Amino acid sequence: MDKIAISLIVNGRPVSAYVSPNTTLLTFLRGELQLTGTKNGCAQGHCGTCTVIVDGEAVRSCLLKMSRLNGKRVETIEGLSRGDELHPIQQSFVNCGAVQCGFCTPGMIMSAKALLDRCPDPTEEEIKQALARNLCRCTGYVKIIEAVQEAARMLRGEKKPAGIELPPDSRVVGRPVPRIDAIPKVKGETKYADDLTIDHVLYARALRSQYPHAEIISIDTREAERVPGVVAVLTAKDVPGRNAFGLLIPDQPVLADKKVRYVGDALALVLAESQTVAEAALERTKVEYRPLEVVSTPQRALEPDAPLIHESGNVLAHIKVRKGDVAKGFAQADVIVEQAYFTPFIDHAYLEPEAGLAAPNEDGGVTIWVGSQGPGDDRRQVAASLALPEEKVRIIHLPTGGAFGGREDVTVQILCALGALHTKRPVKMVFSRLESLRVRIKRHAEYLRYKTGMTRDGKLVAAEVEIIGDTGAYASAGEAVLFRSAEFACGPYVIPNVKVDAYAVYTNNVPCGAMRGFGCPEPAFASEAHMDLIARRLGMDPLNLRQINALDVGRATITGDRLEHGVGLRETISRVQEALTTTSIQAEPGKKVGVGIACAYKNVGLGSGMEDAGGAIIELTDEGRVLLRVGAVDLGQGSDTVLAQIAAQTIGMGYDHMIVQAGDTKEAPEGGMTTASRQTFVAGNAVLRAAERFKEQLVSFVADEFQLDPSRIIIQGGHFIDQGEGRLLLSWKDLSALAQTRGWRLRAEHRYVAPQTYPLPESADLPVGGDPEKYRLHFSYCFATHVAIVAVDESSGEVEVMKVIAAHDAGKVINPHGAEGQIEGGVVMGMGYALSEEFKLDNGRVITDTLAKCRLPTIRQTPEITPILVEDYHPFGPYGAKGMGELAVAPAAPAIINAIYDAVGVRITELPATKEKIRQALNPKVEVV
Ligand code: FES
Repeated sequence: MDKIAISLIVNGRPVSAYVSPNTTLLTFLRGELQLTGTKNGCAQGHCGTCTVIVDGEAVRSCLLKMSRLNGKRVETIEGLSRGDELHPIQQSFVNCGAVQCGFCTPGMIMSAKALLDRCPDPTEEEIKQALARNLCRCTGYVKIIEAVQEAARMLRGEKKPAGIELPPDSRVVGRPVPRIDAIPKVKGETKYADDLTIDHVLYARALRSQYPHAEIISIDTREAERVPGVVAVLTAKDVPGRNAFGLLIPDQPVLADKKVRYVGDALALVLAESQTVAEAALERTKVEYRPLEVVSTPQRALEPDAPLIHESGNVLAHIKVRKGDVAKGFAQADVIVEQAYFTPFIDHAYLEPEAGLAAPNEDGGVTIWVGSQGPGDDRRQVAASLALPEEKVRIIHLPTGGAFGGREDVTVQILCALGALHTKRPVKMVFSRLESLRVRIKRHAEYLRYKTGMTRDGKLVAAEVEIIGDTGAYASAGEAVLFRSAEFACGPYVIPNVKVDAYAVYTNNVPCGAMRGFGCPEPAFASEAHMDLIARRLGMDPLNLRQINALDVGRATITGDRLEHGVGLRETISRVQEALTTTSIQAEPGKKVGVGIACAYKNVGLGSGMEDAGGAIIELTDEGRVLLRVGAVDLGQGSDTVLAQIAAQTIGMGYDHMIVQAGDTKEAPEGGMTTASRQTFVAGNAVLRAAERFKEQLVSFVADEFQLDPSRIIIQGGHFIDQGEGRLLLSWKDLSALAQTRGWRLRAEHRYVAPQTYPLPESADLPVGGDPEKYRLHFSYCFATHVAIVAVDESSGEVEVMKVIAAHDAGKVINPHGAEGQIEGGVVMGMGYALSEEFKLDNGRVITDTLAKCRLPTIRQTPEITPILVEDYHPFGPYGAKGMGELAVAPAAPAIINAIYDAVGVRITELPATKEKIRQALNPKVEVV
């Protein structure tokens, strides 16, 4: 198509362009003008990350063609601040803790600006209306609404547009200091993988399988190789090392050559001068298949005549929990309740699609820039497939637009690196949203069957649970996820007689692995809905039933783990009970209000006898700042900030002097996967101890300089004080100048290993004289209780979650804003799990092929959320902290489902509780389409 000349104003500057009329404004801004603050989350107008303002209107730039922009005025995030001075909306996003991964932030801010430009004093409803097309997967939107309200006050002159003042004494632990990475994120300056540019780059695209299950007869790349601009088309024969990868079991081919097991399998990799050329070449790559029966359910996979998906069999793992004697337990029960439940596949739906860049190194190795949950695990897998020693593979972790477990597995890493080594050129690979949905792991679909016995006064005496998890085509972390489902199958309660069998079963569906909660939200839904059934059957208050059976110090979990400390479960129950007494919500006409309760708990750390370790290095930079290098990566949840707070307070220096470098396998110590809510505890302890050593070095240096005994010197607010005479010896600035003059290299390092844990015992019963320590499956747990208040429209079946009270025991809270943000984000993710989200497949083929079809909650559905922080300190946690990033998802869904029952008497046992299901249950005679 002929190009056209366009003139427009971008951020106040005239811009002339000669472009194809179909070029989108998003492509033009990012590609031609390098304004990468405007993000590409889906390119289909569903996520809002590409929002800019055109002639005063917030628009999604991915949908707007350049042919419509002649003479228009365009504002992007880059045009808002004036140097260091943030626009009031940007400042309020920083102050209110409205930023997590930051990928949605520029789009949110632009939508907010368009609103506040035309409506200086919006109502909450108007804010929700204006931001309704901007998704956020991290925050739960609560702090975003608060930020827009604060910005409006600043812009109306009712509040000074200033940042939060940091405490002068460096005591930042427990304070809501702004995130360390918030300012570049609100300015649109943070570079995610797709924002990187490099000379001579090639673009990689993978050919994906046409069938969910088939033998590969042949792959013909000759025609594709002839497309002008194609540099290479690689197949399995070009993989120099192990043609397989996987977190725990390497069972997934890098490039399949014999068999495909799901529609996301890659068969060929095209490397081309542009994305368009790469796509054209994909269409010319010919594959001949012999289709096989598609195993689309675990039930079929378990049948004796089912085709084998892997030669090892269709059962990846069978996990057993055994405690007491269930037959005896049921014999003692006055009441037995049985029910089956189902939870669907869920997509992580983080807003930054998978992307990475790899470049060959001079030593024959490769460097990969990628947002990753476990750079060390990535390196191990890349090295194995490329037949390189691990030290020749460098992973540089980048800011990441959300992860929630979905970036534990490699996606683009091996393919980019393979392309870079093969062509000796840098290679970039970016998944489209469709590719992300089709290829990347999901939350398991689980079939759960419960039988529980209790006495008439509410004591649980026996539980028998069977869980069948659809783990999809490859192992990923499936075994570990079903392990968690098994160990948390009965909720945070004491039950003397338990039998749990959990199976991870291969199918030809998209592989399943880690997702926030890691196998806990599935049984949390089932077991807490079941607890509600039990309470109804017994005619008991559901909170009371939970208090009677709650885990506590000295009581053992169903795996025999006798809890020694940090068990705030009962307090979370009491605190929501207290908050509930002061809450009153009226139903609108035609709606019925219901209240639902759920508790949950979750491990902190890997547990099960695995070594759980992480390192930290702290050093003084030439500029007088403190550089903290850690292996633990921040995926948006805020670990960089928490670790900087721990370091700043421990050393006694200003938080604003901290720089964090996380997840560079060459420069930072190994930190392990960011998973299992472990980094506050594990990396936090590594930082704490490295900071203590660093402080000792500083003090001894200053003591030497001033000929004083080190015991006389304290560091306070970044100042060195002789406490004997109360005199100021040195400021932080003076120290770095002096250190340079004297040639001192101030550097401290620590590798922390968490307390020992043990594997799941065959029997959870402690024998007489047995050592309870040997039953310690985890060194710490976090606990939560949620109350949901819903209004159900009896005619439509529509559910409105009006309020959620969420009490969490996470030990000492290092950053209250961050902790609240995790709770609010988790509650809204749990609300999506309860009411709308489902990743659908039909006989192995993806039905949920757009972000819109994932049915994520929008800002319009955000309920009032009251986070309550219960701080039951852990004696070995840094400042008493435990961890909490995942748990909030787990109790949110069952609390909502129980509230629906309370409102209208409909018991939903298969998630999600869509309005169609509820309407059908309310009036079974009505046909629902
Ligand atoms: Fe909104 Fe991550 S902060 S998507």
